[in-house]
Amino acid sequence: MNRKNRNDGISRRKFLQTGATFTATAMLAGFGASNVFGTGNKKSKSTSIENVTLNNGVKMPILGFGTLYLTDSLGEKCVAQAITHGYRLFDTATIYNNEDAVGAGIKRSGINREELFVTSKVWVDDYGYENTKKAFQTSLDKLGLDYLDLYLIHRPRGDIKGTWRAMEDLYRENKIRAIGVSNFETEHLNELAEYSEIKPTVNQIETHAFFQQPGAHEFLNQKDVQMQAWSPFAQGRNGLFTNETLAEIGDKYNKTNAQVSLRWHYQRGIVTIPRTSQEAHMIENLNIFDFELSEADMDTISKLDLNKTQFPEWE
Ligand SMILES: NC(=O)c1ccc[n+]([C@@H]2O[C@H](COP(=O)([O-])OP(=O)(O)OC[C@H]3O[C@@H](n4cnc5c(N)ncnc54)[C@H](OP(=O)(O)O)[C@@H]3O)[C@@H](O)[C@H]2O)c1
Repeated sequence: MNRKNRNDGISRRKFLQTGATFTATAMLAGFGASNVFGTGNKKSKSTSIENVTLNNGVKMPILGFGTLYLTDSLGEKCVAQAITHGYRLFDTATIYNNEDAVGAGIKRSGINREELFVTSKVWVDDYGYENTKKAFQTSLDKLGLDYLDLYLIHRPRGDIKGTWRAMEDLYRENKIRAIGVSNFETEHLNELAEYSEIKPTVNQIETHAFFQQPGAHEFLNQKDVQMQAWSPFAQGRNGLFTNETLAEIGDKYNKTNAQVSLRWHYQRGIVTIPRTSQEAHMIENLNIFDFELSEADMDTISKLDLNKTQFPEWE
């Protein structure tokens, strides 16, 4: 892979640091930029979703788009639409069976690859050194890309050591800009630290109002591993979208439960990847940067924690 050509001469360092910034200008014309971002600015104004900086210097948007269940033509349409509305981070995985659809959506959007931050994950069946390398190439081929921004170990079981070694090699070969893990608990991260040569940049774990994971959050902050929330809405389980506490807080700012939830994650410094198949929700979920939850609101939301997964079937 020739990164120099790929970046039109942008140096690797600059590329690593600017990968996901973007100009929304033309794309937002006709979609009501002021509604999307709450800025009220004219369409010529540049805007961007804030980045976090990972422990290897790579920048990652703090808000992205989840693609679980968005397969085939629906996946393609949603990804292309989401790009139009300003999303730049897309989260897929081998097991979602939609990398081809995500790739088709990216292609359909016509966006420059360098503006995107694309994550995929190696599934349990493909663990081990050689299998991971093969699975990675299959993911790239399905996505129609020549590198990934982030590649994660989906779950902590099986041959994690061989899998991580393959990911380290792929990273060294410049085929992945950042490597990380998902669903790892403290003990899994400690074990990984014993033999890894490259530290994980991200741990993607279930996090929402009903499973807030304050212990994991603190541990990951201490270790300089970025926490990323999967199912930031708990898929609406336990009545998240109608929860009265979130609704009362939202009423003060004229925001929905979804927006309050995403803003709460954002103020905790957690990257979120909400999924939606509806254009109105895509716009709504981006519109969280024009208000701020007070400390009292944050405290109130912290009391919603049930400290247990809402997805026992995935354990
Ligand atoms: N690493 C892992 O093990 C793991 C596990 C699960 C998920 N993930 C990742 O995390 C992403 C997000 O999690 P998720 O897909 O499980 O669920 P989620 O984002 O918590 O919730 C998705 C649900 O919320 C609804 N929704 C979205 N925006 C809304 C809004 N503004 N108002 C009302 N409803 C709204 C969607 O319905 P509509 O389509 O009708 O909007 C959909 O039913 C996934 O897509 C995937 O990329 C990773």
